Amino acid sequence: MSYRTIHVEASRNYDIHIGRGILSQIGDFIRPLLGDCRLVVLTDSNVDTLYGDKIITYLTDAGYVADKFVIPAGEASKCAENLLDFLNFLAECQITRSDSIIAFGGGVVGDLAGLAASLYLRGVKYVQIPTTLLAAVDSSVGGKTAIDIPAGKNLVGAFYQPVLVCCDTALMDTLSPEIYRDGCAEVVKYGVILDKALYDTLKIHPFERDRVVARCVEIKRDIVQKDEFDNGLRGLLNFGHTFGHAIEKLSCFSVSHGSAVAKGMVIATKMAALCNMCDVTDELHGLLLGYGFDLSCPYGADEIYNALLSDKKRRGGSITVVLPRSIGDCALVTFPIEELYDKLKIILN
Ligand SMILES: NC(=O)c1ccc[n+]([C@@H]2O[C@H](COP(=O)([O-])OP(=O)(O)OC[C@H]3O[C@@H](n4cnc5c(N)ncnc54)[C@H](O)[C@@H]3O)[C@@H](O)[C@H]2O)c1
Repeated sequence: MSYRTIHVEASRNYDIHIGRGILSQIGDFIRPLLGDCRLVVLTDSNVDTLYGDKIITYLTDAGYVADKFVIPAGEASKCAENLLDFLNFLAECQITRSDSIIAFGGGVVGDLAGLAASLYLRGVKYVQIPTTLLAAVDSSVGGKTAIDIPAGKNLVGAFYQPVLVCCDTALMDTLSPEIYRDGCAEVVKYGVILDKALYDTLKIHPFERDRVVARCVEIKRDIVQKDEFDNGLRGLLNFGHTFGHAIEKLSCFSVSHGSAVAKGMVIATKMAALCNMCDVTDELHGLLLGYGFDLSCPYGADEIYNALLSDKKRRGGSITVVLPRSIGDCALVTFPIEELYDKLKIILN
């Protein structure tokens, strides 16, 4: 079975294998990295129904003893209670430092499993097997792990790299159109921030999944290698996210992450035009409409501004946003928060 491999050099070096149907080779992929060990697979209820038996069969056929821990599907599962329950499960399974965790699911499972791996016995190895487009192009790569707490999303986490990412793109065939589209927002993001050629290929529907996933992963890899711990450049990945997170929060998460990011990217392009950086709003608007996104912003400047005041990215009286200079070239631009508010009033009112 053919697949591509992208190598990451970070605090831990690892390979990302991308290809259709490669889950069946998981035993061959992990043996040189993990040797003989016990495995615990963390997954969610939807992924378990679809593929839970399959992954356990592949692992046991390869000679591994594998237990499974299933959390309910959905963002609400990325919580402290499930983290603690999972850590207890690892202890009950007598997992030692030479054993490993497998994250088998979307970003919720990946973030929770990664954080648990960083904490249990002060760190055990883990493998990411992303099953959503978003997890494939974004959350499974780069080592950011987290849970949500009542004060906010992703507020408790760690940088902790996996030992391997195994991305079987056939698993995404069963995603609902809405969840697949959420991932498309992130794919478009990569095109706008760093790759005009990628952006142009996204005008063809449906895009060639393996090739596009691999290109997005390469872009993320390049950024992570230069700024693993998010001190500057990695901020480019937040294109559309600062405004998107505000919209998600204001909607009490009834607007999905991808839809909110799509709306946020449009606001960012309008802001770039207002700052005389470039005017690609119609261009991006047209591309995103082609993916079926509703790009209207249901909130006014006051509401978005108030939501931004509690954004993690705010530093004192200023906030940094990612604005395009052209398609394929973005900049981190820092505004005094009042200036951003004035611009939002022009864009949204
Ligand atoms: N760590 C990072 O760098 C990073 C980056 C971006 C996002 N995230 C996090 O990722 C999470 C969002 O990830 P997500 O969009 O994958 O959400 P998710 O994990 O909740 O998955 C979305 C839905 O798809 C279902 N699903 C997963 N795989 C499926 C499949 N193959 N077929 C059918 N259904 C399937 C899930 O059960 C769930 O209902 C958020 O918590 C976000 O904070 C993390």
